Amino acid sequence: MNTSPLVDPYGTATCLNAAERHRMNVQFALHTAPLLHRALSTIGGPAGKRLLDVGAGFGAVVSAFAPPETTPIELRLLDCNPELLNLAADRATAAGLRTTTHVGAIDQQPLPNSLCDNDLVLCSFAATHLADLAAGLRHMTGALRPDGLLVVADVDYCASHSQACEATAECLAAVQDKLHVRTLSLDLPRLALQAGLRPLPGLPSGDWLHTYEGEHAVRDVALGFVGHFREEDPAFRAWRRISPQARLLLRRMTHIYARV
Ligand SMILES: C[S@@+](CC[C@H](N)C(=O)[O-])C[C@H]1O[C@@H](n2cnc3c(N)ncnc32)[C@H](O)[C@@H]1O
Repeated sequence: MNTSPLVDPYGTATCLNAAERHRMNVQFALHTAPLLHRALSTIGGPAGKRLLDVGAGFGAVVSAFAPPETTPIELRLLDCNPELLNLAADRATAAGLRTTTHVGAIDQQPLPNSLCDNDLVLCSFAATHLADLAAGLRHMTGALRPDGLLVVADVDYCASHSQACEATAECLAAVQDKLHVRTLSLDLPRLALQAGLRPLPGLPSGDWLHTYEGEHAVRDVALGFVGHFREEDPAFRAWRRISPQARLLLRRMTHIYARV
């Protein structure tokens, strides 16, 4: 068993408040839900399927299912933060979903058999936080049935660029410093293939540069999560100084793979 201490940059940096919860729901609806629905329709919908959400956070995934006819047979929620996992579990139960929870770090050890054989594993805005992406991908792959799908939505902050505002550049650099995965857009496809995943013809994976211009778009939309960092954090202090001239190019990623 891996006994290295758990590193959780998201939970350590962030005040886990209602505003952050709302922001995660919006981010999920905009960037993860369309990808998840595409993947679910490829495997014949959620009904009768086993789904595992890795890094489930506040449980934004719950909004993707409308009981009773379009619910998975079981929604498994995994997170290293028990406080967030409890919120996610309450939300799933209130929505009438059959749910099990597991506290753990996906990159530290393989999942128990009771959490394997999933038709789909989702990793939404969590891959960039993993200290060991290769191990995390191996464990997610091991939790899939053959031909099951891994769905990843994320941002590569190391392949994102700021312009025209020093505070934005400082904020981006401080965010890059916090996250462990340096070049997610390069590492993910390479490590996914090594883990025994393959891209699916007809379900393209893609990275694109999403441009945000002006104070509101850069501060509140693109880097809104930094606004919920603790006050003493250097990223938060730079975030407060982002100017109306700011421009940010975020590299967003939506990837789907199947287990070989
Ligand atoms: C930015 S939140 C994303 C939450 C949710 N997936 C969503 O899209 O709304 C990242 C989540 O990953 C979790 N996390 C970070 N490192 C993890 C690890 N090694 N194993 C499992 N979960 C982890 C955090 O606790 C947090 O809940």
